[in-house]
Parts: sequence; C-alpha cells; structure tokens
Amino acid sequence: MSNKQQLDWPEPIVRVQSLSETCIGSIPDRYIKPSNDRPAIDSSFGDANIPIIDLGGLYSGDPDARASICSKISEACKEWGFFQITNHGVSPDLMDKARETWRQFFHLPLDVKQQYANSPKTYEGYGSRLGIEKGAILDWSDYYYLHYLPLSLKDYNKWPALPPSCREVFDEYGRELVKLCGRLMKVLSRNLELEEEVLQKCFGGENIGACLRVNFYPKCPRPELTLGLSSHSDPGGMTMLLPDDQVPGLQVRKCDKWITVKPARHAFIVNIGDQIQVLSNAIYKSVEHRVIVNSDKERVSLAFFYNPKSDIPIEPIKELVTQERPALYPAMTFDEYRLFIRLRGPRGKSQVESLKSPR
Ligand code: OGA
Ligand code: NI
Repeated sequence: MSNKQQLDWPEPIVRVQSLSETCIGSIPDRYIKPSNDRPAIDSSFGDANIPIIDLGGLYSGDPDARASICSKISEACKEWGFFQITNHGVSPDLMDKARETWRQFFHLPLDVKQQYANSPKTYEGYGSRLGIEKGAILDWSDYYYLHYLPLSLKDYNKWPALPPSCREVFDEYGRELVKLCGRLMKVLSRNLELEEEVLQKCFGGENIGACLRVNFYPKCPRPELTLGLSSHSDPGGMTMLLPDDQVPGLQVRKCDKWITVKPARHAFIVNIGDQIQVLSNAIYKSVEHRVIVNSDKERVSLAFFYNPKSDIPIEPIKELVTQERPALYPAMTFDEYRLFIRLRGPRGKSQVESLKSPR
C-alpha cells in the first residue's frame, strides 16, 4: 500500500453530530448496517454483566486479599477479556472532570473543532471515520484521538486549546492511567506465571505508547439500523475505558451473544488488546465489542490505550510457547500492525486472526 493513499479521506467528511442535529426520523444510507450487523434493541438488556473487581485489597499488604483479587482478574481475562475495576486509586473527581471536559469540547461550535480535523496519516485530532475504504458503511460517532506517550509524539498543539482546562486535565489523567496500567501489567504477568516485570518489558519497559480516543456518540433517530462503533477488538495492549456515567452502550461478545455492559459507578472498564493476545500466545484473548446508540441521549466515552513501544517485535513470550502449544503468531511490530488495521477500519477480529501462522 503506498503512502499516497493515506494522505486524505476518500470522501468529504461529514460530522455525525451535525447529522444528528439535522436528520429527523431517518439516517443517511451510509450509516445503515447490513441486517446481520444491526443491534437487537432490547431495553431490558438482561442480567448478565462483565465481572466487577474491587482492587481495594491489592495494596493492603494482606496476601490473601491480594491473591483473591489476582485470581478474579485471571478468571476475567480468560473468560471475558473484559472486566470493570473499582477502588483503582484514580480519583473519581478526576474521572468526572476528564469526561465532562471532553463533553464540553464536543459542544463547541463546529468551526472551533474543525481546526483540529484529522487525516488518515496519523489520525490525530478530530475525526469521524476509521479506515479509508471508499464507499464504506460508516459508524454513528465522532471522535478525538491524541498521543500521550511516547513524549516524542506528545504534541500539545494537537490537543484542543478549548476548553481551557483540557490540556491540564488530560495531562493528569494520562499520568494516573499510565500508573494504573503499570500495576495491572504486573498482575497479568504474574497471572501468566511469569516474573512480575516480564509483560512490561515486552512492551518496551518505560518506552510504552499511550493514546486516547474520546468517542462522541450523538443521538440517533434510528438506533436499530446502525452502530456507534462497529464490532472490533482493540489493536493495542490494554484499554482502560471510562464510559459515560449516564448512558450505557458498550456491548461485549460472549459466546455469540452481545452483553450490554452496565457500568459500575466510577469504575474503569479494562480489556485485553490484540498485542496481549499475541504475547500470551492466546491464553488471553482480545474480545470483540461494539457500541449501540440511542434516540434520546448522546454518549461520551474515553478509551485510553496502553500500547507496546511501536517498533519492537511482538511475538508469543518464550515461556508460553511449548511443544503442546506452539507459537500461534509470527513477530510483528505494533507500527506494522496498526497500519494494517487503519487501512481497513473496524472489522471484528479478522485482523489478529489473519496473523495466525499457517499450520
Ligand atoms: C474503543 C471502544 C467503547 C465505548 O474506543 O475502542 O471500544 O464504549 N469504545 O465507547
Ligand atoms: Ni474498543
């Protein structure tokens, strides 16, 4: 694929937020999903939920409490690839402030936001589509994407100047989330029966990458025909999602069913990305998820992606490769992997599966 194709979007960009304000009772064909992909809108949502794990005892010094939390995390990683964490140490005020600051950004006038309009070259800034396939069916959302780490990619000029607190708030939020992810990496590493530092080392130690995608899902007059975000697995290492505190929408795939996550108050939703699937030789799997929208409430979520250093080869960790369980994936850097994904947009789990070594 030549670089030329990545310079700009194949079609003029339409902000879903503007559509939401002008479409009454219908949505443009470009947002209508094939019938198999449409959500079954059922407002009861059933009782199932992803596990909720209280991390309070993890650093209490009580080894039994710690062991019990680690084992819950282990189970959740294997069974779901998704879990919520409470008592994680990040201040609830900071969480609310981060979400509400970004909500304010999306409520600024269009011309202010347009100054940050992104291109498929880096995806940084204000965007309304993933993938550059001409004529693709689009998702009912706008987003803002920015880099927090490595420092060489962190560029305040690409972060919104408004609302005025945005840069400061996200700086603090990023610092706290990197800390929290570092702690969870140790737990995952131990749970895989590796030394505590192994997983982090595979990510490049201190030189990890971290970026944020703020998702804005405007109200939609025909939520049964579209998706806010199509089914995908997260390409990176681990994701910390701060969901909307009022409006559900995230659905996680479990045995061919879609489970709607019911967020616990001030919890983060953690999920395993494709790179941990590869490193763990598929002991942990990155699970498919998607987002549904609704007709009377907008939704804002912050997805913080904790990623390996982008230019080191990621392959199954030696200790997890045995004669009975040979390496399932060849080595690939995250840069190479990301390029592969960005050309195509969200497509279920087809990306990591297509990497599988032929046998
Ligand atoms: C994502 C994502 C879920 C949500 O940004 O990768 O899965 O609830 N977001 O917005
Ligand atoms: Ni995701």
